[in-house]
Amino acid sequence: MGKAPGLYAPVLRETIADLYRDPPLGQRLAVEGWVRTRRTTRAMSFVELQDGSTLRALQVVLPHDQVARERIEADLHTGAGVQVWGQLVATPDRPQPFELVAEGYQLYGPADPATYPLQKKQHSLEFLREIAYLRPRTRTFQAVFRLRSSASFAIHQYFHERGFVYVHTPILTPSDCEGAGQLFQVTTLPLGAVPRRADGTVAFEEDFFGRPAYLTVSGQLEGEMLAMGLGRIYTFGPTFRAEPSHTPRHLAEFWMIEPEMAFYDLERTMDLAEDLLKYLIRHALRHHYEELAFLTERYEPSLLAELEATKESAFLRLSYTEAVDILARSGKTFQYPVEWGADLQAEHERYLVEEYAQRPVIVYNYPEAIKAFYMRLNPDERTVAAFDVLFPRIGEVIGGSQREERYDLLRRRMQARGMDLSAYEAYLSTRRFGSVPHSGFGLGLERLLLFLTGLTNVRDVIPFFRAAGQMG
Ligand code: 4AD
Ligand code: MG
Repeated sequence: MGKAPGLYAPVLRETIADLYRDPPLGQRLAVEGWVRTRRTTRAMSFVELQDGSTLRALQVVLPHDQVARERIEADLHTGAGVQVWGQLVATPDRPQPFELVAEGYQLYGPADPATYPLQKKQHSLEFLREIAYLRPRTRTFQAVFRLRSSASFAIHQYFHERGFVYVHTPILTPSDCEGAGQLFQVTTLPLGAVPRRADGTVAFEEDFFGRPAYLTVSGQLEGEMLAMGLGRIYTFGPTFRAEPSHTPRHLAEFWMIEPEMAFYDLERTMDLAEDLLKYLIRHALRHHYEELAFLTERYEPSLLAELEATKESAFLRLSYTEAVDILARSGKTFQYPVEWGADLQAEHERYLVEEYAQRPVIVYNYPEAIKAFYMRLNPDERTVAAFDVLFPRIGEVIGGSQREERYDLLRRRMQARGMDLSAYEAYLSTRRFGSVPHSGFGLGLERLLLFLTGLTNVRDVIPFFRAAGQMG
């Protein structure tokens, strides 16, 4: 058996992706990774080695006259972590272009086949959710997390190229941006003996910040304040919602991208949202064909075709009122009735996107009563300049609006909703000093990734998911 090159040996150590990019045929080299499968015949063993750098595996041949068969059978089980060294040789008559003919290997960490949870076979996504820490060993999650990384990079690139300033908004916040009350409260008060005032209410003046604090549901309000000086900004960070919903589209901790632009009206903002989404789809197609082809084959047969079609399509824009008309005239029976003033349900959105338009749809100008307080009131005084981008398979990927920049009107509308204005003092003040028209939106990273990967559950596109009653 050849001598071990060791961790710092002067032997070429390459990732498997590098080998496929530019195979150093005939050279002696070392490769490190995890055993995906092994097959042992009388004269030799074959190991498929993976290292996460590509979905492709490296075929390693271990001749038993080089490495003892008993040792291989004891060590090289699915999941074991190893370094293997030998010579890379071309194999023009085999399915793979080359293989590593091993001289020896070093076992870093064994994986006992009696207890290692993953097997050769394909596991269900539900099963894998219970062992989230091992999901990165599977090609599915390697493809998904690589796409997630790359989409995040492309988002930064998109805004950077257009002069947007990347800002960090706080995670701890005194206010509920969306006004929907789905807040995780953060406190250092002892839950077993909460201090109370004479009237029985909680003495928040004794809490860490001297007032109630929460995990942010959106960086928008701070984003608006920053845009009122920097012009065009975006945030990209974790967002928390105590959504009790157990749907495949909702997480309690998800990542959101929120651009905010001074001097943008609704239409220009919808243009930006559409352009960003198409840019991200083009980026994935250009840089991740390997991953997309794998996901298409395994999970969503129409994935590649749908991405290709979407990057070329003009999204259909419908006012909320038009959308309601179309739904009412559709002849469909929906579970939730269609009537002006009610929010669109998932079944309505699906009909609009998948049957009526057969491409993404942007619905805009929603009824004032069903949308957030900060959205700009339209001249009809019944609707606000809000929009949602709806995608096939996913539903809403983006929600945004032009903001109410008129101080008196905004104050009045907040009061009418019974909001505690003291938590919004700074926000309101932006409307007192040089207030200008401005707009923005929020893109849910996990929703985007459902579209890009063909998967159907947001728990499968974030490394460790947090959802109501579940932490993966
Ligand atoms: O529509 P939402 O609630 O809008 C806002 O938060 C605004 N403050 C955004 C803005 O105008 N700056 O959320 C925006 C997007 C949704 O379209 C959806 O893609 C995603 O965030 N999202 C979620 N993703 C996963 N799990 C959840 N619980 C989500 N809630 C919203
Ligand atoms: Mg929304």
